[in-house]
Amino acid sequence: MKVLVATEKPFAKVAVDGIREVVEKAGYELVLLEKYTSKQQLLDAVADAEAIIIRSDVVDAEVLDAAKKLRIVVRAGAGFDNIDLAAATAHNVVAMNTPGQNSNAVAELALGLMVFAVRNFYNGTSGTELKGKKLGIHAFGNVGRNVARVAQGFGMEVYAYDAYCPDEAMTAAKVTPVHSANELYQTCDIVSLHIPATAETKNSINYALLNQMPKGAILVNTARKEVINEAELIKLMQDRPDFKYVTDIMPAADADFRQFEGRYFATPKKMGAQTAEANINAGIAAANQIVDFIENGNTRFQVNK
Ligand code: 3PG
Repeated sequence: MKVLVATEKPFAKVAVDGIREVVEKAGYELVLLEKYTSKQQLLDAVADAEAIIIRSDVVDAEVLDAAKKLRIVVRAGAGFDNIDLAAATAHNVVAMNTPGQNSNAVAELALGLMVFAVRNFYNGTSGTELKGKKLGIHAFGNVGRNVARVAQGFGMEVYAYDAYCPDEAMTAAKVTPVHSANELYQTCDIVSLHIPATAETKNSINYALLNQMPKGAILVNTARKEVINEAELIKLMQDRPDFKYVTDIMPAADADFRQFEGRYFATPKKMGAQTAEANINAGIAAANQIVDFIENGNTRFQVNK
């Protein structure tokens, strides 16, 4: 039983050690493909793997075709938009994620980006504080809930919109529920995105929505670049010199966003989940889920059902 860890952006070593321990204890073999630079390397590595652990690595029909022995692929993380689920099902491959395991790391980074933005990117000028500001959490899943918890520590007033989450879950967390995206963006000084990239959400963060935000608005993106309508966000930032965009996912149009110096920041590589803790949590959960699936048929975290 060969388990491949294929990570273009590697886990911390301590997490790889933990994954190895789980895999070898089960009597399986661990193979590592880290920092690969071409798809061919991935295609070669998957050839004899029966299980694969990935991060944002793309597992499409071509990869699944090459992975002749594959039974399970686990995305060590939350978003699984990088796996072609229909192709996985067609190849009789179980696809899973590890929900919640890296959510605190992403939430801490979201707050870090907020502090960076309200303090004018640490340029020495007088900024503002987060305390007392209205924060809108767009989607109240695992990351959104952690963002709420940390933001409350800063003394922010927290609102959330999530069409799939009951109000009670928000009120139990002392978060004010709102019932439309428009209401969230009209109400909040800062909006933090925690929606997945789906057919429904792609390009949904657009001019009309963002332009409802009050003066001095800040948009924080630790979710996915695909949810932003980049052309419309650029137009909005041209029309509104008060608007700031801070993101952990470099936009496709990064070069065009650079005109907004002092109002736009993107991390060079997505680093929300780049902590030892998140890597350990998500990586070891992925390894355990593989063993539990192979040994006991447990499909609890399957996302291509
Ligand atoms: C996730 O969906 O779990 C996060 O976006 C983290 O992605 P990464 O594993 O590529 O850092």
